[in-house]
Amino acid sequence: MEEKELITSENMHAWDGRILVTGATGFLGSRIVRAYEKSCRVFAPNHQEMDICHMDSVRAYIEKVRPQIAVHCAAASDTLWCQEHPEASFRINVEGAEHMARVCGDLGTKLIFCSSDQIYFGSGGMEPHKENEEVSPAGEYGRQKLEAEKRCARFCSDSVSLRLCWMYDSERLLEKEHGNFLTAFLQAVAEEREMVYPIYDYRGITDVRLVVENLEKVFKLPGGVYNFGSENDYNIYETVHRLLKKLGYSTERLKKNETAFAGNPRNIRVHMGKAETFGIEFPKTLERLVECVNSI
Ligand SMILES: NC(=O)c1ccc[n+]([C@@H]2O[C@H](COP(=O)([O-])OP(=O)(O)OC[C@H]3O[C@@H](n4cnc5c(N)ncnc54)[C@H](OP(=O)(O)O)[C@@H]3O)[C@@H](O)[C@H]2O)c1
Repeated sequence: MEEKELITSENMHAWDGRILVTGATGFLGSRIVRAYEKSCRVFAPNHQEMDICHMDSVRAYIEKVRPQIAVHCAAASDTLWCQEHPEASFRINVEGAEHMARVCGDLGTKLIFCSSDQIYFGSGGMEPHKENEEVSPAGEYGRQKLEAEKRCARFCSDSVSLRLCWMYDSERLLEKEHGNFLTAFLQAVAEEREMVYPIYDYRGITDVRLVVENLEKVFKLPGGVYNFGSENDYNIYETVHRLLKKLGYSTERLKKNETAFAGNPRNIRVHMGKAETFGIEFPKTLERLVECVNSI
């Protein structure tokens, strides 16, 4: 990466190549580290080196390494666990983000906060969601991400919150990595297993590699909230049905889950217009899935 590529935002002083990535042992953080470690000075503290739940730990680490950019991936990302452990997950997802925002705000570090499309779970309507909508998340995790976004904006006004969609990769990078849509799909196809996907669930599914590739453009974004992932024209069952057909596979073993979100469809699809005005683009969910499988 060349220096001049990153220096355009008026509020950023000369790019010094120092990036902090929290949650670097996780699905997204590990891929960001891999992408930047050759061209930048990447700081990737593990849980023990910097515990986001403790303000002193966050301040001491960030004051020591003085990054220009901090990508805050660390979180309790399992929505079910958050639902069952509201207090413990609040400390990680909300207070952890606030600690990052306070320190980054004080030191002039550009903070990129990983938020989620789950913020839209509970919103009415079947259209893709825009960032300026009134939202009232139905789940604990979505409520925590929304509160964290607000605290990031309050304590670090130049911070950028990315509402990420469900991410996948065709390869496993780490031993303990959580499963993802594409690897689960490919495994079911390879083992000729029955697949069951919901018909009342509408959401974008995003290639994590594109999230990482588009990150450099995020460094230059003005503070605010941005949807950040692939749009999707279909529900999850339809997405898989079309994917199988486009790949030339039989749809015989594909079954509908008609109970999940029945009577109250979940629509957390994102509208990407705002990010697109800054040159950030993601192909649609189905298009990218086909490309990905064909490139394996
Ligand atoms: N994956 C998705 O599809 C998706 C979709 C939308 C939004 N997001 C958001 O994107 C971000 C990255 O997701 P991910 O899938 O990469 O998450 P992940 O794989 O679950 O990784 C979470 C990371 O957070 C670290 N962590 C947890 N508690 C910590 C603490 N108290 N102090 C320091 N580190 C801590 C974990 O370290 P240990 O393993 O050592 O605990 C791990 O490295 C998260 O904010 C997530 O909510 C993810």
